Amino acid sequence: MEKEKLILAALEARTHAYTPYSHFQVGAALLTRSGKVYQGCNIENASYTPTICAERNAFFKAVYEGEREFEAIAIAGSPEGECISYAAPCGVCRQVMMEFCDPETFHIIIAKSPEEYVEYSLKEMLPMGFGPGDLQLG
Ligand code: THU
Repeated sequence: MEKEKLILAALEARTHAYTPYSHFQVGAALLTRSGKVYQGCNIENASYTPTICAERNAFFKAVYEGEREFEAIAIAGSPEGECISYAAPCGVCRQVMMEFCDPETFHIIIAKSPEEYVEYSLKEMLPMGFGPGDLQLG
């Protein structure tokens, strides 16, 4: 799938954000190796800590559906209104990516629009990450 389409799906997901506290709206579109796209948005809570990020929302939807192999995620985040900033994934979301993705080949696309984006591998965004392989010491 083209990056443009994945970014448009992240921008669309952002319109679903529930953000009465921060007013910072994030959308994510996660592409599986089989070509499916799972969208997620951030969902906040009056008690603050139960808030879920857009990226984890997308991952957990996909994993629930049985998906285990992922190629890329597009993320669009910004204060309410037009998407005017590059929103990098938080550390917790990077760790969730580490659980399911190959750090060398998984692409993280941080976008303002289909024309304006930056792209990193998971390894670049989470160097020396701790993953499932690290538990297999025997
Ligand atoms: N947020 C995300 O959805 N993804 C991130 O990676 C960073 C932060 C959300 C959580 C919260 O609803 C708002 O942005 C402000 O932190």
